[in-house]
Amino acid sequence: MVLIGGGSGIGLRVAHQAVTAGAQVVLGGRSSARLAVAAEELGDRATWRTVDITDGTSLASFFTELDRVDHLFTSAASYRVGPMMQLSDQDAESPFVSKFWGQYHAVKAAVPKLAEDGSIVLMAGAAGARPPAAAPAYAACNAAVEGLGRGLAVELAPVRVNVVSPGTIDGNLWAHRPEEDREAAFAQYRRDTVLHRLGTEDEIAQAVLFLFGNGFTTGSTLYPDGGYTLR
Ligand SMILES: NC(=O)c1ccc[n+]([C@@H]2O[C@H](COP(=O)([O-])OP(=O)(O)OC[C@H]3O[C@@H](n4cnc5c(N)ncnc54)[C@H](OP(=O)(O)O)[C@@H]3O)[C@@H](O)[C@H]2O)c1
Repeated sequence: MVLIGGGSGIGLRVAHQAVTAGAQVVLGGRSSARLAVAAEELGDRATWRTVDITDGTSLASFFTELDRVDHLFTSAASYRVGPMMQLSDQDAESPFVSKFWGQYHAVKAAVPKLAEDGSIVLMAGAAGARPPAAAPAYAACNAAVEGLGRGLAVELAPVRVNVVSPGTIDGNLWAHRPEEDREAAFAQYRRDTVLHRLGTEDEIAQAVLFLFGNGFTTGSTLYPDGGYTLR
């Protein structure tokens, strides 16, 4: 199982649950220090390699050195979010550059190594279906990832391709954002979800492992979001 972005957050929780279930995992990310700590936590079933999903050469060398890929999940992304009238064009494009094209190119580089009964889970985000604030390019990127999942499910069959589209998660990503932004976003999310709480990284990891394991599910988007997109 290959988890690009597996050095932290949701990807790392997928790694923990997968290792507990007996899988071997390969973690990818840009920071060797972060990956080494994560792999140490996981024990003998985990290895790691540095990779930058925005760099085609880096992706090619990452996958060339792997024998076979059963499952791929790419939670790796770094981007700026904000209103169209406030972001520079470069920042506005950053979700597409990193999250959309990063995942597209990661899948393309992985294909020669993918097992026929393997699967891919793409990372989107519930903001694509229900934008919580003015961040139109980020919302569009998440919606585009869902479309990419449906398109790849057709092209890559029998390899299955699905999408996970989480709501707001109380985890590593938000822990590194400014406290004032975090508290405002968390309060809004608690108010606006059906379940009136944030999600956990482990809940999203469970959803990813379900999509990896269910042999008749392809082209689907799963929303572990506490009912956020219903309202
Ligand atoms: N957390 C939420 O509330 C939430 C909700 C919906 C969707 N999402 C989506 O989940 C993803 C983030 O996952 P997370 O919440 O687990 O956050 P995270 O802990 O920040 O994980 C992101 C990981 O990706 C790696 N990464 C970033 N840019 C990379 C690049 N160019 N190449 C390779 N690795 C890269 C980072 O490590 P390095 O810096 O070492 O590379 C990091 O380990 C994003 O796509 C985000 O939109 C998150």
